[in-house]
Amino acid sequence: MSKKKIVNIAVFASGFGSNFEAIVRAVREGKIKNSRIALLITDIKDAYVRQRARRLGVKEVFISPASYPSKEKYERALYTILKREKINLIVLAGFMRVVSPYLISKFKNRIINIHPSLLPAFSGKEAIARAYKYGVKVTGVTVHIVDERVDRGPIIVQEALSIDPGWSLKRLEKEIHKVEHRLFPQVINYFVSGGVKVKGRKVKIV
Ligand code: GRF
Repeated sequence: MSKKKIVNIAVFASGFGSNFEAIVRAVREGKIKNSRIALLITDIKDAYVRQRARRLGVKEVFISPASYPSKEKYERALYTILKREKINLIVLAGFMRVVSPYLISKFKNRIINIHPSLLPAFSGKEAIARAYKYGVKVTGVTVHIVDERVDRGPIIVQEALSIDPGWSLKRLEKEIHKVEHRLFPQVINYFVSGGVKVKGRKVKIV
């Protein structure tokens, strides 16, 4: 039996939740080791990801930012839950809110995010559509550590994807999500196995 401690992961998501589901399945299939998805946190009441969580039997919590007077108060409430659930790692998978320095300081180098472009290109919202409309020939997926600057934290892994000239935007979205669903669980597995070393902006996978 492994003596390694189980890593408790909280996934934050706001929408469709396909990455959330890919992560949950990867844990169950043993592709992400020594971990459990302890919790889904969402900021959107009717987000489809909540239905996925219920179907998959993952505890889910909706906390409305509108119920709190400030971002910090909201995140303090989140932190209380994260502490109670003994969360070691936060995974942002389509969480449409900027995480503030408060939560980042509580989870230094322990919050990771996936972004559907090769950062720093096309940071921010609707990255896939903006890359497509710009006419880039190569785009991709980035997984990075979350720091105080939106989409600018140290990069853990990137995977490039060549855009076939015949592809529609829908097709590109589909191809990007395929990469995400494979890459994100892989990176989470490196992370929970202690294989990700962060030194300033340099991230080494060992
Ligand atoms: C993904 O493309 C992810 O890169 C971005 O938001 C999207 C979430 O998709 N941050 P889903 O909700 O996981 O299907």
